Amino acid sequence: MTRTVGIDDLGVYTPAHRLDLDVLARVRGVPPEKITVGLGVRQMSVTPPWEDTVTLGANAAQRLLAHGTVAREDVGMLLVATETAVDHAKPVGIFLHELLGLPSSCRTVELKHACYGGTAGLMLATEWVRSGAARGRTALVVATDIARYGPGSSAEFTQGAGAVALAIREAPRFLAIDPASGVYARNVYDFWRPLDRREALVDGKFSVYCYLDALDAALDDWARAAALPGPLFSLCDAFLYHTPFPKMAYKAHARLIAHEWRRAGRADATLAEAIEHSYAAAVDPWLAAARLVGNTYTASLYFCLASLAEQTGEQLPGRSVGLFSYGSGCCAEYFTGRFAPEAALVAGRLGLAEMLAARCPLSVEEYERCSRPPGEAVPAAGDVPAIRFLGVEGDKRRYAAAEAQP
Ligand code: CAA
Repeated sequence: MTRTVGIDDLGVYTPAHRLDLDVLARVRGVPPEKITVGLGVRQMSVTPPWEDTVTLGANAAQRLLAHGTVAREDVGMLLVATETAVDHAKPVGIFLHELLGLPSSCRTVELKHACYGGTAGLMLATEWVRSGAARGRTALVVATDIARYGPGSSAEFTQGAGAVALAIREAPRFLAIDPASGVYARNVYDFWRPLDRREALVDGKFSVYCYLDALDAALDDWARAAALPGPLFSLCDAFLYHTPFPKMAYKAHARLIAHEWRRAGRADATLAEAIEHSYAAAVDPWLAAARLVGNTYTASLYFCLASLAEQTGEQLPGRSVGLFSYGSGCCAEYFTGRFAPEAALVAGRLGLAEMLAARCPLSVEEYERCSRPPGEAVPAAGDVPAIRFLGVEGDKRRYAAAEAQP
């Protein structure tokens, strides 16, 4: 018997500070419309010195656990996906394990394949539960990242920071993940970060090419695996994409529709119109968070999922969604899911729009101070997150969790 497995609950977190990108564009001498229209991004979350990849992930997971739907003692596996780890050997997950008070009998590991790591975690966890090895326990998958590029580079406008925590369980109350998926992997140098560098290196235009090429190949693999009853656009109500910047999701959706039209043998005459129509209804509304948070690497696709959930609310149950995950380097996966009858309840607890609206705007000078490596990590009174980074003492990182829950 195939078990129904998927995302039972989720928690989202982004730092409490933002930079308006039209302001940064003016300071850098770039036309603001290139950023707000050309890339489609308006703001980015900025990580203050008292936050890092560990605190972003821990705060997202803490928000999930505060819902009361997952008992800490039932968590049997913790997978943390990141490409901005804090140590070459010690995994981000083991800090979360302590900060969240998880049981000692809990497999804890860090996953890396650029932005694909979060989906790798979701798939490994889903298969762990589906196989029966979980014995009724829950897997916690946390995708957490800080996107950093060189100051003054064109990629600087595609930074961001945030984390999403997913609880994976049998009979999920949020989103059942369909067993069929399409995967594609190939060694390319489109985006990378050598071990001694804090900021990523990127071959920008080539990375866009690699993303779209991987989408085509993952769709082909998915069609082989799914024993397809029809073209994708007639099967899914919504489409979510890894979103380094919102225009990328537009390019991806245009590619997906063209791909599916080709497979269905349709003539091209009305393709452009079909793309615009489908994008406006099934993609654009779910980019709301990505426009304001920026790129969150491993978490980016799941910020779109949270946005979709929050905006669709009561209409979620029974709806189907297609998800495309891309990690530079590269590995990609296309998969689908269906929202559970209780999904609206889960969505109602997310608090994402509220969190984004409450962020405090920074000047470009303040943002540049935050971008330097952290020194003394002391937040102002109103800025204290539930879990924060205290600094490094004797080469060891120190964290503190506040008594109160967020
Ligand atoms: N008004 C309106 N639009 C304007 C404009 C103006 N004044 N000036 C330019 N534009 C438009 C351009 O026409 C272009 O639109 P199209 O792509 O639709 O043609 C858009 O603005 C961007 O302009 P450019 O292509 O000239 O921008 P750029 O060369 O400065 O850099 C980028 C764009 C390559 C994406 C760069 O931001 C970058 O390197 N980003 C990081 C890499 C990245 O995100 N890659 C995505 C795929 S890889 C991935 O997804 C993994 C990951 O997370 C990193």
